[in-house]
Amino acid sequence: MVAGLKRLEYRGYDSAGVAVLADGGLAMAKRAGKLVNLEKALGDRPLPAGTTALGHTRWATHGPPNDANAHPHLDDSGRVAVVHNGIIENFAALRTELAGRGHVLRSDTDTETVAHLLAEEFSSCADLGEAMRLVCRRLEGAFTLVAVHADAPGVVVGARRNSPLVVGVGEGEAFLASDVAAFIAHTRSAVELGQDQVVEVRRDAVAVTGFDGRPARGRAYHVDWDVSAAEKGGYDYFMLKEIAEQPKAVADTLLGRIDEAGSLVLDELRISASELCEVDKVVIVACGTAFHAGLIAKYAIEHWTRIPCEVELASEFRYRDPILGARTLTVAISQSGETMDTLMALRHAREQGSKVLAICNTNGSTIPRESDAVLYTHAGPEIAVASTKAFLTQLVACYLVALYLGQVRGTQWGDEVRAVIRDLAGIADAVERVLATMEPVRALARTLADKRTVLFLGRHVGHPVALEGALKLKELAYMHAEGFAAGELKHGPIALIEADVPVVVVVPSPAGRSLLHDKIVSNIQEIRARGARTIVIAEEGDEAVVPYADHLIRVPATPTLLQPLVAAVPLQVFACELATVRGNEVDQPRNLAKSVTVE
Ligand code: M6R
Repeated sequence: MVAGLKRLEYRGYDSAGVAVLADGGLAMAKRAGKLVNLEKALGDRPLPAGTTALGHTRWATHGPPNDANAHPHLDDSGRVAVVHNGIIENFAALRTELAGRGHVLRSDTDTETVAHLLAEEFSSCADLGEAMRLVCRRLEGAFTLVAVHADAPGVVVGARRNSPLVVGVGEGEAFLASDVAAFIAHTRSAVELGQDQVVEVRRDAVAVTGFDGRPARGRAYHVDWDVSAAEKGGYDYFMLKEIAEQPKAVADTLLGRIDEAGSLVLDELRISASELCEVDKVVIVACGTAFHAGLIAKYAIEHWTRIPCEVELASEFRYRDPILGARTLTVAISQSGETMDTLMALRHAREQGSKVLAICNTNGSTIPRESDAVLYTHAGPEIAVASTKAFLTQLVACYLVALYLGQVRGTQWGDEVRAVIRDLAGIADAVERVLATMEPVRALARTLADKRTVLFLGRHVGHPVALEGALKLKELAYMHAEGFAAGELKHGPIALIEADVPVVVVVPSPAGRSLLHDKIVSNIQEIRARGARTIVIAEEGDEAVVPYADHLIRVPATPTLLQPLVAAVPLQVFACELATVRGNEVDQPRNLAKSVTVE
């Protein structure tokens, strides 16, 4: 159980707990803080052995992360145990109702209400699956629930609405988890549950129904990676491993998508060429790093297809009444496929008649399931909270979508598409070369550990790269960092420049758009004249930047539109090293979780 929780700890890590059905009752341990605290408690006072158990790692929503609020939660009798992801929105009313019937609520959580409600329902129907269905029909909000009852040994019941739950089907054993990583060491056969479904799992049987009790089926699939992919493989942090895996991730995401003639084939898209020809606007919705991938995609989509493209933070999208219709293609980008803001944005888009294409890294997750089409990135599991290889593969997928749109609509000639594909095919090697030259970047980062602020500048696709560099630094090093469009500097942010403030500048290729390049070289001079310490990322052979760079980070020459694939890598390494030297938890930065399944 604890080994499985370890693989899920990236999803939330402020407290953890386990409960075991044993000796006709329930034994439980839970602790605030990281899983190691629970492990220590279990080492000091082991729980009795049992074959039915549940556990949880928490990212607090209701109530602070203390022992009492850690999951599992029990009913009054201590015979029902429940773990929960998500938010039960009507929990206040349920708590009042339960207190009115004499229940004693021992935590501040919304989850505990479910334990009491389940106990009540079970006492009348003596069927844990039915009790769960009855309870779920009363709950509002988003939830994955897993429960056991000491009077129903041998069965574990799960339920899901707007939050993930997968079943692992082993030989004479079965698992329920929010992510296959939890059981990948035992089985690669998984069943993904649909929306509003309840599952009853026994040692050798899995039964699925809707909340209404009607029999239902989950989607069975085989997980195409194994336990080694979910382990650190000799690296100190998952983030370092995932940074190193980027060449392979990029190459894998291109695999099978180019036919012998060099044309793009995106069979899995499931949106016909004629529908794509009708598209008159592309809207991209995403959060965080995936949003930055979307910002870069806009340049490629508009340049290669001449279709207007808007990029919107998913959390803002549905609140501004966006203009969408049957000819709008909405692209939802998400590594996890579970980000609630992105899910809600895509649902809104579909309600308005737009087709939705998901770009996603997680098979079996909610966002691709609810989309009209999906293009999977093949980054493998990304465990570190800071997104790295997922970002690069999201970019590759975005370029493929843009090229494909250009190909089917005839705005790109075959040889133009093939030329970009050749460039993309060379990116894995280019990233490998960047990775091989990162020691000076790490050394530089170590000298900046006590700086208060780091600024990032870019133009064109370099602007979202600058935003991404700043996000990485904030999230990992807890330093003030901001990304700006270099041309915008003189409209206000240049006032931030003072002696020795580090400014990272992403310089576009001088070959592609020399005007763009010349402008940013001027911007570097402007900030240097005001005392900034310039850290310049420029392609090999770009000599124009040399006189103005206090530190020069070279990346291989790439066409301007594709440069983010190489320019983002030093920024990942830079942030990771700064986090390390400042003593931060690289894989699990404070206050964050890998999948943000609440709005
Ligand atoms: O799973 P998603 O791609 O939908 O996640 C979106 C963001 O939460 C995510 O990219 C976040 O910004 C990363 N932690 C940044 O490194």
